[in-house]
Amino acid sequence: MPISDHQLISAWKQVLTLSKLEHGQTVTILTGASTHPQTLACALVATQDMGAIVNRLDLPPANGEKAHSRDSLAYLGTTPLTGNTAAIAMLKASDLVLDLMTLLFSAEQHDILASGTKILLAVEPPEVLARLVPTEADRARVLAGAAKIAAAREMHIVSASGTDLRCPMGEFPVISEYGFVDEPGRWDHWPSGFALTFPNEGGAHGTIVIDKGDILLPQKRYCSDRIVLTIERGYATRIEGGIDAELLSDYMAGFNDPEAFAISHIGWGLQPRARWSTLGLYDREATIGMDARAFEGNFLFSLGPNNEAGGSRTTTCHIDIPLRKCTVSLDGRDVVREGKVL
Ligand SMILES: [Fe+2]
Repeated sequence: MPISDHQLISAWKQVLTLSKLEHGQTVTILTGASTHPQTLACALVATQDMGAIVNRLDLPPANGEKAHSRDSLAYLGTTPLTGNTAAIAMLKASDLVLDLMTLLFSAEQHDILASGTKILLAVEPPEVLARLVPTEADRARVLAGAAKIAAAREMHIVSASGTDLRCPMGEFPVISEYGFVDEPGRWDHWPSGFALTFPNEGGAHGTIVIDKGDILLPQKRYCSDRIVLTIERGYATRIEGGIDAELLSDYMAGFNDPEAFAISHIGWGLQPRARWSTLGLYDREATIGMDARAFEGNFLFSLGPNNEAGGSRTTTCHIDIPLRKCTVSLDGRDVVREGKVL
């Protein structure tokens, strides 16, 4: 169901307050061809009401002809900021950028963040934003999970359906996504709620079984049968199963890039207000599937790049796969047991 402007303005104000927006600071709202009009209108009201100096920067889309779908997270290549020094200067001069366009991870985004500008991505539909509006408790929960990852040297994931994956860790930083930007130079995504890192380069090994009912993103569909991934030296070297395995293999082959098969981020969902079942209620073009990524207790792993965390792998292909009913342990101690966060 839709929500009122009043509800969405209140949600924006909650996010902006948690993000420590102060009177007189400069906010630039980044928009594009798929920006939701209500999200934009309410962001304009909320930021001005809090006394900010507010700009809007609208950029034309990039890479539409190369992406295989309209999903804004499906193709990680150049962005509308690539080579756009005027736009970069405007964003660097802002205290806060509200990204209603989907800038995605890029050298330009790192450059803007390094200047101290905060960036908050918000592209889910208004009612999803309002339901999953972040809280201080979300931050505390995610930071607690992140601290456990930072202290560990191996993540081991098992499930009754046959997953048995070992990921040595320590080469890459831990990333916390809790839905607001409370520090200079911070990037976050409203809504979210997970802690993640990346396996040491070439280190992940074992088997991942994507079971019936598990979700593939950006396909945004529930698997109807099992897909078995063999993981060797950090890469998925075999993708086996029935029609779902064939669909995944065909999609990935379209990028013609062996780096697409690398194990990317690993972590688990920590958002109790996000639900596994929500994706089934939405048209696939209406959502990017953040409920699926963030629902509490899923083991979220990805195939694709690690440059987000400072690694050298850049590939335009990026698959996020949340698995249910896994047990995740760090150095032998369970943190998620059969899909329940401990
Ligand atoms: Fe991802």
